Amino acid sequence: MDTERTVRVFTDFYRERGHHLITGSTLLPPPGDPVLFTTSGMHPLTPYLEGRPHPRGRRLVNVQRCLRTTDLDEIGDSTHLTVFEMLGSWSLGDYGHSHSPRWGYELLRDGFGIPREQLHVTVFGGDEQVGPDLESLRTWEELEVPVELTRDDNWWSNGPVGPCGPDSEIFVWTGDTPPRGTPTTEPRWMEIWNHVVMRYRRLEDGSLQPLERPGIDTGMGLERLVTFLQGRDSVYDTDLFEPWTRRLPSLWELDEPSLRLVCDHLRSGVVMIGDGVRPSNTGRGYVLRRVVRRLLTTLRRDDPSRTLRDLPVGLLQ
Ligand code: ALA
Repeated sequence: MDTERTVRVFTDFYRERGHHLITGSTLLPPPGDPVLFTTSGMHPLTPYLEGRPHPRGRRLVNVQRCLRTTDLDEIGDSTHLTVFEMLGSWSLGDYGHSHSPRWGYELLRDGFGIPREQLHVTVFGGDEQVGPDLESLRTWEELEVPVELTRDDNWWSNGPVGPCGPDSEIFVWTGDTPPRGTPTTEPRWMEIWNHVVMRYRRLEDGSLQPLERPGIDTGMGLERLVTFLQGRDSVYDTDLFEPWTRRLPSLWELDEPSLRLVCDHLRSGVVMIGDGVRPSNTGRGYVLRRVVRRLLTTLRRDDPSRTLRDLPVGLLQ
């Protein structure tokens, strides 16, 4: 299943269940937001998850480009990307939270053809402030998907304050043996989708205030899903990166990690510039500058004459 079809299967599934498809925002959060870049699908929807009515209704779906600066140092391995896209679905105080795992399971099984045997979930097992997420636990048990309870890994928040809550993380089996172990004990379980019950608002003093109308926020990394569905070990081997991986090796001879870095940094640089970021000494501009600098340093390590002008014009459009 190619990337375009993967996106369509996801968005059609939720549209058929009453969700309005909204356009993703830019990578730039609104003024006043303390974070430099949009880091997840829910980020631009924060006020609506906290109760403000959304003009498009209470069920939404979209594809949101995101950037997590925390991942920058990982670039060059087979899974991390500077800019990635997140498939997201939301209930803004609409359906309750047992709907979300049921639909999630149905979509993975019938839409993407992933059998139950290749799935595992983790669910919030409770901490000093909040009890275990028993409703999610019960729903997954009814669906007969194996569940592991954790404490710290199953709590979602987008920052120190704001909407937050317990989540169910869905993992797929990537090993070439029958599945074994659990997500916390066996790295071949790969997380693909997160279903958050946005039930609280974290206040400055660290306390949790229950939201008047809890919501649902789900997010699935598109590139990671596509890698799995296309049976690849590396995101750079999917159709998404094919335009880069087909052209770049004939321009520049690069080892595998360098080729990945160059592909990633070219792609993310283009997206950042497209969203209005310009290189500078501070903030977002500094992130772009770092990306361009590392791209050029990697390119010129073996041959100082290399330049971005070597690229065919069409590749950067
Ligand atoms: N906001 C959740 C995440 O990004 C769905 O994982």
